[in-house]
Amino acid sequence: MSKVKKGIILAGGSGSRLYPLTTFLTKQLQPVYDKPMIYYPLSTLIENGVAEICLISKPDQLPLFESILGDGSKFGVRIEYHPQPSPDGIAQSFLIAEDFIGKESVALILGDNIFHSPAVFRDTFANFEGGAAIFAYRVQDPQRYGVVEFDPSGNAVSLEEKPKQPKSNYVVPGIYLYDRNVARLTRELKPSARGELEITDLNLAYLHAKTLRVSRLPRGFAWLDAGTSSSLHEASSFVQTLEKRQGIKIGCPEEAAYRAGLIGKKKLCELIHAMPACEYKDYLLKLEREIEAELDGA
Ligand code: TTP
Repeated sequence: MSKVKKGIILAGGSGSRLYPLTTFLTKQLQPVYDKPMIYYPLSTLIENGVAEICLISKPDQLPLFESILGDGSKFGVRIEYHPQPSPDGIAQSFLIAEDFIGKESVALILGDNIFHSPAVFRDTFANFEGGAAIFAYRVQDPQRYGVVEFDPSGNAVSLEEKPKQPKSNYVVPGIYLYDRNVARLTRELKPSARGELEITDLNLAYLHAKTLRVSRLPRGFAWLDAGTSSSLHEASSFVQTLEKRQGIKIGCPEEAAYRAGLIGKKKLCELIHAMPACEYKDYLLKLEREIEAELDGA
């Protein structure tokens, strides 16, 4: 059972590295193989038991997200929508979502981050006791990200945003957990030289208060960020390869909601039968048959 029931999906930004695709459609609604990008972070939250979701995006794009996801009830969750008029930093999401957060813990996931498999986060969500929890993932090109330095006992000792000389190859992916103090601590941050409220500065505030937990993600785990045309294409290929090979879908919120117990079999079947004929439906029909066989055998 997750102790974190609320989650923010940050899906605004300028998406300039995806120009000209993003002249008419925001990055997080672009296709990643067989579904819109937003399905992936949404499924990650659902799989980890988050049932109240605040989606933040550019004002003109919010109606598009709403037309795809609705109020969330089809996935057994509640989704509310809030505008970010200009991309003033990832941490600004906690000010926009302050009323949504209230006095509870909250997860934040970036709308262009794709994780496989999300089971990796389960313990952190289930055992979250306050402070902040972030993750560290080994990459080749750490200077593009927030970099974590560990001491010999594996404790995080420093965090630096896009350093020229990174102190390690471990960087922070776009999924974070914070306690109820997050909006207050964000209000104390000063905008950086690029004029943004930086998530790294917020994480540093927790690090200095000795309440930041950093868990290293295992080597076999995949984290894709689909921010450039090449990485978007690679993400699509990765998803296609894995889905074809394993016969499972990555980023399928209907399945995630069923497996998380947020919707029952009846609701799942209703959703499937309302879909037009397509490969996505074929997959879910196969899942329906598997669930029926499991229930018969039980
Ligand atoms: P980035 O990839 O750093 O920025 P971007 O999406 O604006 O793209 P580009 O650099 O090509 O112009 O943002 C990471 C994620 O966070 C992405 O999903 C967009 C989101 N984001 C916001 O929604 N609001 C913000 O203020 C910022 C900085 C990012």
